[in-house]
Amino acid sequence: MSRTLLLVHYFLILLIIGVNGETEDYYIIFLNNHSGSKEAKESTHIDILSTLKESDLDAKESLVYSYTKSFNAFAAKLSDSEARKLSGMDGVQSIIKNQYRKLHTTRSWDFIGFPQIVRRDKLESDIIIGVMDTGITPESESFNDDGFGPPPVKWKGSCPHFANFSGCNNKLIGAKYFKLDGNPDPNDILSPVDTEGHGTHTSSTAAGSLVHNAELFGLAKGTARGAVPSARVAMYKVCWASSGCSDMDLLAGFDAAIHDGVDIISISIGGLTGAYTKDTISVASFHAMNKGILTVASAGNDGPNLGSVANHAPWILTVAASGIDRGFKSKIVLGNGNTLSGTGINGFTPKQKFYPITSGNDVAINIESEESAGYCIEDTLDPSKVKGKLVQCKLGTWGSDSVITGLGGIGTIIESETFLDTAQIFMAPATMVNTTVGETINKYIHSTKSPSAVIYKSEEVKISAPFVATFSSRGPNPGTKHVLKPDITAPGIDILASYTPLQTLTGLKGDTQYSKFSIMSGTSMACPHVAGAAAYVKSFHPNWSPAAIKSAIMTSAKPMSSKVNQEAEFAYGVGQLNPTRAISPGLIYDMDTMSYVQFLCHEGYDGSSIASLIGSKTKIKCSSLLPPLVSEDAINYPTMQLTLNRKKTITTAVFRRTVTNVGHAISTYNATVRAPKGVNITVEPMTISFTRALQTRSFKVTVTTNSKSCMKLLVSGSLIWRSCSHIVRSPIVVFNPQE
Ligand SMILES: *[C@@H]1O[C@H](CO)[C@@H](O)[C@H](O)[C@H]1NC(C)=O
Ligand SMILES: *[C@@H]1O[C@H](CO)[C@@H](O)[C@H](O)[C@H]1NC(C)=O
Ligand SMILES: *[C@@H]1O[C@H](CO)[C@@H](O)[C@H](O)[C@H]1NC(C)=O
Ligand SMILES: *[C@@H]1O[C@H](CO)[C@@H](O)[C@H](O)[C@H]1NC(C)=O
Ligand SMILES: *[C@@H]1O[C@H](CO)[C@@H](O)[C@H](O)[C@H]1NC(C)=O
Repeated sequence: MSRTLLLVHYFLILLIIGVNGETEDYYIIFLNNHSGSKEAKESTHIDILSTLKESDLDAKESLVYSYTKSFNAFAAKLSDSEARKLSGMDGVQSIIKNQYRKLHTTRSWDFIGFPQIVRRDKLESDIIIGVMDTGITPESESFNDDGFGPPPVKWKGSCPHFANFSGCNNKLIGAKYFKLDGNPDPNDILSPVDTEGHGTHTSSTAAGSLVHNAELFGLAKGTARGAVPSARVAMYKVCWASSGCSDMDLLAGFDAAIHDGVDIISISIGGLTGAYTKDTISVASFHAMNKGILTVASAGNDGPNLGSVANHAPWILTVAASGIDRGFKSKIVLGNGNTLSGTGINGFTPKQKFYPITSGNDVAINIESEESAGYCIEDTLDPSKVKGKLVQCKLGTWGSDSVITGLGGIGTIIESETFLDTAQIFMAPATMVNTTVGETINKYIHSTKSPSAVIYKSEEVKISAPFVATFSSRGPNPGTKHVLKPDITAPGIDILASYTPLQTLTGLKGDTQYSKFSIMSGTSMACPHVAGAAAYVKSFHPNWSPAAIKSAIMTSAKPMSSKVNQEAEFAYGVGQLNPTRAISPGLIYDMDTMSYVQFLCHEGYDGSSIASLIGSKTKIKCSSLLPPLVSEDAINYPTMQLTLNRKKTITTAVFRRTVTNVGHAISTYNATVRAPKGVNITVEPMTISFTRALQTRSFKVTVTTNSKSCMKLLVSGSLIWRSCSHIVRSPIVVFNPQE
């Protein structure tokens, strides 16, 4: 299994670790004593390795990273037997085998009701967003620092001088790279520079300065900007064109970011679904949370499969992707005058009225290749029959536009059942059509002696929105049946943001298109929208905990429709991000580190594995930590999920919650409950009153369901606390896994 950059782009990066002789792998070893100086920690790491290796030199050579800033851990190259020996050793808390992960608008902010002119706090310029990604383009106008003062005094990070990297300024205040797996690749530039475009895109979405007249091929024209144009950006390059994103590098990025003093971490990188104590992003973001830093992560692009959501730890804010009210379409006209429509971004104005068109199947290089030729796979097509033509291809691998033009063809019409809600950029006249349109074209091709067609340059069209992207990963949460995931939805389809000059728009062979801006889709693009919103909330409430910021963002979201999105909360969580309301939530569901420890105990994690998360040498005694009152989920989460048990016909669950007053000192909230059919929901008390700021009030939600009457996979209700000036909404879902 490997991690992904959560961008719906279509190359697969698989890295086989080169091993010499005895099989060795990279391992990350967490120690249980997190105190001590950098030097003391480093020498402990060598000491531990020396017990395994023949000489001190071997020990030193096997050490890849010493993580000493924010926690105590190291990465080393070990054989399986050495790793096993380590796991029993005194002082070693846990061992994780290194794995490689893959990477997972102008209009988007206006669409979600967050216009350029909103109330901003002058503290915004004190907020630093740390981005874990593929690097950054410092020359991009999005990181122009006109009008910025020096970095906030709390900033402890740096921006060393690197080749191929022009350096930082008062907007981009930090940039580092992390790559120590010993496999230098000529495609990688060892500097924080972004050779892929992904990191430039996500950083500018979160915190880009205003750039007027941003566009791509004249499409999506407008002012590009991040959520918090005055906030600062620090880039931690942990993903590489050659190898993806390795756990070891990722951990080093977090270690540095936590130490440097970032306020929010944005990570658009694929998660592995392992135990919360064994997954690097989960472990690293726990350490960040413990230091007051909220991690915002992408939910993944493995939808619409159920249970595909990644980065689902309760201390992470997990972001799904939705569409905005703008799509990109190309008109196709057939020789018989029939006009059809496809999706995608192509910037090519046809030079001729019509081009001959053929189908991939019909121009195979030989009979054996016929089926592959239908998908326009490289080396299966006869160049002499492709030259000068449009070719209709089924969607197999990405890049049939490159294959066709490489053979002298004009362009391609790609037939697909999936990905039709995102616009892919093409390097040739091309568009993507559904199977209905595909069949029409196919019939036409075979109905006439010299079929012809033309594809026009893409145009912007208005579509109805919001809807959750098909590719966006869905719940239920594979990590726990008690926490609803994803948490929230933000725009992640066809997002325009800054791009790198070092990569063509498609990255495909033969592409010569470069642009300062590009349009990308993925939960990768949704994540920085929410990271930016979190920074926005933090600029008004610098002392709020990560859980408080998260709660504010979640309870203020705009509900979405389960009619449009079948999987309802499993697709969109609380609904669509609404930053302007998030700064004044009224009430928050707050949590501290111990709240999460209690939750993990309740989930059955043992004390010693939890200790590895918080870096405590003393074992956590779960039996003494469980909450005194019975609660279904033992967590003060802003949503509630009841997972039904197959055996019982009637299930009753009690959720206990505590809210903190962050609105008017003297205020009263009344509960409004919406219960789905077959489910009874009661709240006690129904009214809560506050007489001062930061006062807390507890309440109990009882959910009773007759599982026979609850036939659907998922039914949705909600609890709303309403005062004269605030609405605090929590979805309540009942999940029936038997369906
Ligand atoms: C933790 O390690 C530091 C040095 O790395 C050492 O000084 C300290 O005594 C250790 N603490 C415990 C409780 O072992
Ligand atoms: C990086 O810098 C080196 C040395 O100056 C240069 O040869 C190389 O072309 C640069 N690479 C890119 C992609 O700019
Ligand atoms: C296929 O695409 C066409 C053109 O966009 C559209 O009118 C039609 O409804 C689509 N058909 C299906 C089954 O989605
Ligand atoms: C829900 O409440 C109603 C009215 O109090 C009651 O008749 C019904 O049996 C309850 N249903 C369940 C599933 O508890
Ligand atoms: C809450 O309910 C009480 C009693 O029904 C009512 O008097 C009060 O106006 C309500 N407050 C709000 C904010 O809706």
